[in-house]
Amino acid sequence: STSPVKVAVTGAAGQIGYSLLFRLANGDLLGKDTPIELRLLEIEPALKTLEGVVMEIDDCAFPGLAGVVTGSDPRKVFDGVNLALLVGARPRGPGMERGDLLEANGAIFTAQGKALNEVAADDVRIGVTGNPANTNALIALSNAPDIPHERFSALTRLDHNRAISQLAAKTGAAVTDIKQMTIWGNHSATQYPDIFNATVGGTNAAEAVGDQEWLESTFIPTVAKRGAAIIDARGSSSAASAASATIDAARDWLTGSAEGDWVSMAVVSDGSYGVPEGIVSSFPVTTSGGDWTIVEGLDVNDFSRGRIDASVAELTEERDAVKGLGLI
Ligand code: NAI
Repeated sequence: STSPVKVAVTGAAGQIGYSLLFRLANGDLLGKDTPIELRLLEIEPALKTLEGVVMEIDDCAFPGLAGVVTGSDPRKVFDGVNLALLVGARPRGPGMERGDLLEANGAIFTAQGKALNEVAADDVRIGVTGNPANTNALIALSNAPDIPHERFSALTRLDHNRAISQLAAKTGAAVTDIKQMTIWGNHSATQYPDIFNATVGGTNAAEAVGDQEWLESTFIPTVAKRGAAIIDARGSSSAASAASATIDAARDWLTGSAEGDWVSMAVVSDGSYGVPEGIVSSFPVTTSGGDWTIVEGLDVNDFSRGRIDASVAELTEERDAVKGLGLI
């Protein structure tokens, strides 16, 4: 029998955790034949809630679940992990300024980066879902000097999936007919979902739509502000869809993106497409065997250039802010 893949989830007692853990335990990441051991990290006050969630996981009798470890010490929970899904983060509380938010999350992702550096498995991959995801990933990688920067990514797959879904609805195509979607930049309202390089049933998506007004006034804001629309409608933030995207992203990273297609991942920039080297920004990437490669040579028109630059400027500001706080 194969030894289990150790998957850490932080913020495991939270909303996303409540969906993500059951999907992971069910084998949605690597298939039902690959046993998984869950390593669940929470803060002390949430451990009782987490205990209840683990009782429910037990009650599912998942055949592929090899074990569950819980705790509040990242050095213990991350011990030997092959994949770390960093979901837990400090939400913006009332009266909290952006600097306070970066600082609170800085403390979390500094400590977790250091712990991963010390105790994770040699092949560890780290996906950051907790917001501000791109900058949290930058903080974590900066505090893990022995882990290659390429092993870190932040989640823009939810935005990618949202963009595919909106474009499918607009064109009447199936989601599976849409290829080569790209989210550029930050996982925030400045993100840029690019349909100029996407295709619908093999036809260029921007040409298939043929409606710049829809692109600017409907598509981009709908994708970029979807999180707020879900809070409005549901009374709480997107959780099941965020969990689903977290799994999509990790699965494709570990097992490879589809032939003839690519995915969006926020990864450390090598300077491609004029994105400053060293910041964690979303790019079109192909993946294979746990490695990602930025898709090079795509056409970036003036409209796209302006949108990418605006989102990258926001990321550069966040980078400078956490640098100013001594977090990186
Ligand atoms: P939640 O508030 O329900 O759960 C977060 C959990 O993290 C809580 O249980 C909390 O106790 C835990 N936590 C806080 N600090 C921790 C630490 N130092 N170590 C371990 N656990 C810790 O939030 P929810 O809805 O599950 O969302 C989690 C994060 O994901 C938020 O930052 C949210 O903004 C972000 N998110 C990101 C998306 C993306 O596409 N990148 C989409 C949706 C949410």
